[in-house]
Parts: sequence; C-alpha cells; structure tokens
Amino acid sequence: PLTSKVNSQDCLEIGGCDVTTLVQQFGSPLYILDEETLRTACRQYRDGFKRHYAGSSQVLYASKAWSCLAVCAIARSEGLGIDVVSGCELYTALKAGVSPDKIYFHGNNKSVEELTLAVESRCTIVVDNWLELKTLAGLRTKQESSPQSPAPIRIMLRFTPGIECHTHEYIRTGHLDSKFGFDPNQLEEVFAFITQQPNLHCIGLHAHIGSQIFELQPHEDLAGVIVQWFGKAAKLGLPVTELNIGGGLGIRYTESDDPPSIEDWVKTVSDGITQACQAQQIPLPKLLCEPGRSLIGSACVTAYTVGSTKVVPDIRTYVSVDGGMSDNPRPITYQSIYRTVVANRMSEPITQTVTLAGKHCESGDILIKEAALPKTEPGDILVVMDTGAYNYSMASNYNRLPRPAAVLVGQGEANLILQRETYQDLIRQDCIPDRLAFGN
Ligand code: LLP
Repeated sequence: PLTSKVNSQDCLEIGGCDVTTLVQQFGSPLYILDEETLRTACRQYRDGFKRHYAGSSQVLYASKAWSCLAVCAIARSEGLGIDVVSGCELYTALKAGVSPDKIYFHGNNKSVEELTLAVESRCTIVVDNWLELKTLAGLRTKQESSPQSPAPIRIMLRFTPGIECHTHEYIRTGHLDSKFGFDPNQLEEVFAFITQQPNLHCIGLHAHIGSQIFELQPHEDLAGVIVQWFGKAAKLGLPVTELNIGGGLGIRYTESDDPPSIEDWVKTVSDGITQACQAQQIPLPKLLCEPGRSLIGSACVTAYTVGSTKVVPDIRTYVSVDGGMSDNPRPITYQSIYRTVVANRMSEPITQTVTLAGKHCESGDILIKEAALPKTEPGDILVVMDTGAYNYSMASNYNRLPRPAAVLVGQGEANLILQRETYQDLIRQDCIPDRLAFGN
C-alpha cells in the first residue's frame, strides 16, 4: 500500500508530499511514484526467496511495466536484476547502471541489431524460437575480432508450459497456442541442436504463464513442469543451472480484488520448485522470477485536474479530466477498473456516481465507468490509484497530447524522473519536404 495520509488541509499526501502542491509544481496530469512502496515490494520478493528457498535466487524487475532510468536504478539498488524486451529497454537498464549479468533479454521477434547489442553487452538472452536460436548460433560480433576468443553467448530457453490461468485473454501467455516460446514438443530437438553449438551456453529454462493472476495453483503447476524439462536438459548435458518462473502476480485494483501476497506467491513458487527437484533428485537450481505489476503497480497514482462536466439527464454525469487513454490505455484496452479519490477534499462525503472521462476524441476514452465521488468542480485534483504498471510504458501521444511528467516522492521530497513532453518534443521527429514548407 502507498505511504499516504490525509493532511490538515484535507489533502492527500503521498510520500510526505501534498498531491495538490505537486500538481502546482509539476503540472497536470502527473504520475506520482512512491519510492517506499516500490522498495518495499522489491524487498518482499528478495527477502521472501531468502526465507523460503534454500538455493540461490535472483529477482528481476520486468521493466515492460515501467521502464525509465530512475525506476531501473531503484530496482538495481535493491539488488534486483532487470528483464528487458527491446533494445531500448536494454539500453535503459544499462544506462541505469544495471550489471549485464543481471539483465535478461526477452522477446518473440528480437531483431539482429537487438541481438547484437545484447551479445555485445553480455546480458543473458532468453531465446524464444528457432530463428533466433539459429541467428545467435551464427552471430559473428565485434568480440571475435578481438584477441581473446569470444565468450560463449549466455542463453536461456523459453518454452510454452501449456498452463491455463484465469486472466484477460490478451495477457495470457502460458497456454499452448501462445505466440511466445518453443512448443514443448520441440524442446528435445532444441536441446540436441544446442549441444552442437560451441558458442551457445544454455544456462537454463524460462516460462511465464500470464499477468494479473490471482491463483497460486498455476504457478505451482508451472514449477512441476519447468523442473521436469530442466531435468531433461541436464541429462542431455546442457550446462543448466537457472530456472526462471516468470512473473504474473496480480494486484488489487478494486475493493473486490483479492490477490495473494508476495510472500505467499514466493513461498508457493519456492516450495513447488523444491519439491519437484527433490522428487527428481536434482540439485536446486538458481531460481529467478520477473514480476512487473506486483512491484510497481501499487506504487504510483496519476493526478488529473477536473475540467468540464456534462449531465445527461436520467442517464449519467460525465466528469472530464485533462488526460485519459493516452496516459492510461488499460481501461480501453482491457476494460480495467480503477479507483479514484478527490485529492483536495479527501473527507468530503461521497454523493454521486459519475463516469470519469478522458479528453481524447474518442467515446471509449473513459477512465472509470462508475466512479463514486463527492461533488466535483473544475480545478479539483482527481487521483487515480494503482497506475504504476503498464500506464507510462503503454502511454501514447494520441491526439498529440504530450506525455505527463513523473515525480518520485519520499520523505517529503519530490524529484522529477520524467520530464513532461512539450509540443516541440512532439514535432521533433516530423520532417517536411521543402515544397510543403511554410511559406511555399
Ligand atoms: N515476464 C514475461 C515474459 C512477461 O511477458 C511479463 C508480462 C512479465 C514477466 C511481467 O508480468 P507481470 O508480473 O507484470 O504480470 N499490458 C498488460 C500486461 C502485459 C503483460 C506482458 N507480460 C496490462 O496492462 O495488463
């Protein structure tokens, strides 16, 4: 939960900072990231494995949830590694000072440029498919022209575990017709191929079953499946020592959401791997996981300013704010539900149910269909809770809205971690042929 309270002015404070003051200072809309909440979640994962898993472990932050220098640096300073899925997420993690041996590169269609960057920076590549495997086997990089012989490329193999879980179909990845990873039927062939590749050093296996998952059972099942394949890879002589069980633990967006705790998730995964290894009599691998949402989701809120209101008699009231689907595309994409409060009048009684609308030219740009609020006025500061995961990272410039700024708050201090985009930023990449230039 956020380190928040209501102050004597009846305003919401996060990390010791008054949200309305933050908006005056940094503008609106504004992402407000609570450092303590993020760090606490990092520690719960990290220390949980120390308590529940007898082997070594490494927690990776799935930076697709929110990739920027400051967030990667916080994860690094808590001892976490980073899961990246693109050249620029990799670049960001490296620039944030994350050690390459704690960076794991995912993706079902990495480009040759991305693979080259990954190999040259010496992170671990989680190989997804045959094309990638063969590309890597044949990759000749700058390293090889150097006097020392090149270090083998560290890879892990991602496979589809064939596990169903209850979450939105767009964010399920473990079922067999997922686009990600090797089909398990091909794995033995893949293992055999790798044993013939001197420059590929296969250190382990990876599987991920989906996101925003509230059940523990699928992760327990995954532990059994992944250890089984780990045993087979070891028998074939692959130098496997690591298992990565993915991420996926859900968070509470509404009162009725009831996800397991990080502690329970870590214990389930640790016990599952330990029991499966004991049953197969194989030594405990280094255990990796890569949560995104459950690390950063609840650590951030988005502050908006209320503008126009439209009453449709007997049907609904629309209250519009100065952002919307460009800074939070999750409601329109996944029908996600969020909670909101009026940050400048926290104790005022709730008197109405309104539809909280964004400012985009699209009817579907609704942030919250049914928001229970006190009476609102233009200029009120509305805070939408739990926007840390997949908001900034999926933000767009739809309607040419500049992306909001983000501030990091803690102990009464606020530091800018993402500058607000300007109109100049947005047209910086535009090119105009001479014959169309202004004045011609
Ligand atoms: N590892 C892999 C291989 C993944 O594909 C993902 C998420 C994660 C880890 C992190 O999962 P998490 O712990 O955050 O659930 N944009 C969607 C979520 C997409 C998740 C994609 N993969 C949303 O806004 O709900």
